[in-house]
Amino acid sequence: MRLRVKELEEQHLAFRNSLICAFNQLLDLKDISTGVHSTRLAEWAIRVARKLNIPEDRIYQVEVAALLHDVGKIGVPDAILKKQGPLTSEERAAINRHPEYSWSILRLFPGLEEASLYALHHHENFDGTGYPAGLKGHDIPIVSRIVSVIDAYDAMVSNRCYRKGLSHGEAIHRLLESTETQFDAEVVRTFIPIAEQEAADVFAAAGTSTSAVL
Ligand SMILES: [Fe+2]
Repeated sequence: MRLRVKELEEQHLAFRNSLICAFNQLLDLKDISTGVHSTRLAEWAIRVARKLNIPEDRIYQVEVAALLHDVGKIGVPDAILKKQGPLTSEERAAINRHPEYSWSILRLFPGLEEASLYALHHHENFDGTGYPAGLKGHDIPIVSRIVSVIDAYDAMVSNRCYRKGLSHGEAIHRLLESTETQFDAEVVRTFIPIAEQEAADVFAAAGTSTSAVL
């Protein structure tokens, strides 16, 4: 009997992991995030979370939140998502709904309720000016604060079709400049040595010359 329960638990976990991979692939197909990008984000998030003493039994939720926080972008029309140049206020509002869409998708999976809340709050700002809830400081879940910093760094250093990525140094400078307004200073301080260690890999993946690193 105990063996059967264990077998069912393993099947359930394997099924859930396949679903997560499938969603990740969907994001890749929609060009919302690429496989390398999201795996990297998840690794960084886990390392920051461990350094901030987030208990091991919550690390899985950190990984899922880092991988799938933007899954709700599937609900935003491509014409808006990929628009180059300034957005109208309606277009901006449509994009800003993606954390709620992410939440509404992830919460449907038994066992991912916690990760769905982290996804919901990944665009909150430390000073309360973010969305969707305008949460402030430590009212924002710590995992959402981690995803916010890592995602911003990754977006800054990645090349986009319409602009070249920033250097590692410039990206770190901008993170530090926005601590206490957009980002949690403790999370930024924890992330910097990790980013520094991995900058060479990041820039190789982002398609930037490694000589531009640091
Ligand atoms: Fe997002």
